[in-house]
Amino acid sequence: MPGSTFILAIDGPAGAGKSSIAGAVARRLGMTRVDTGAIYRSLTLLSLERGLTDGEIPALLTDLDLRFEGDRVFIGAREVTAAIRTAEVSEETSRVSALPAVRAGLLELQRRLGREAAGGAVMEGRDIGTVVFPDADVKVYLTASAEERARRRLLDLEGAGTHPKFEEVLASIQARDDNDRHRAHAPLRQPEDAVRVDSTGKTPEQVVDEIVALVEVARAR
Ligand code: DC
Repeated sequence: MPGSTFILAIDGPAGAGKSSIAGAVARRLGMTRVDTGAIYRSLTLLSLERGLTDGEIPALLTDLDLRFEGDRVFIGAREVTAAIRTAEVSEETSRVSALPAVRAGLLELQRRLGREAAGGAVMEGRDIGTVVFPDADVKVYLTASAEERARRRLLDLEGAGTHPKFEEVLASIQARDDNDRHRAHAPLRQPEDAVRVDSTGKTPEQVVDEIVALVEVARAR
């Protein structure tokens, strides 16, 4: 549609580097990054804090006052940027995001954030190119080997002051992959028309350059 917002969809498994790559691509191209995982995580955080059952979670969506300010995430006036990244929230989000009512409820919010994104949207998630924006202008499937993703996650966790074993981190990555790929609704899979970008052994700059080039070609069409 002429004049509609440019959408770059970046899907892929946990730890492939989607967040940092999406942020860097958005900065380079003057686009707005929309981290859809943060939306699922925020909803899950509220549900954990309130001790809700699965059946009660969708009701939270009616007045979910979620805001992004750059890379910071707020629910109402409260900043939850760090609170949504704990191991407990990560694991529970993988489960909560498999609930069909949750996925359906978040569809419109994600589409609105994409359509309203200043300069175009870099939308990162698991089902952006398959479900949320099947007509996205460019679709990237960003991946890396499970071992490489575990190594990166370990470095992040060590940077944050925790020292888990490599095998534990790898097992947790594999468990989340398994959940995300095998759930009945909108499982993680590579869209047929997506470009597969494997970041194993590449620097973030190389991956960003590759994706920026794809967008520039699409914009020139
Ligand atoms: O990208 P992330 O690690 O912040 O995602 C957290 C969880 O949310 C992960 O288990 C997959 C799920 N998710 C999803 O199902 N669909 C999305 N569009 C984004 C995230």
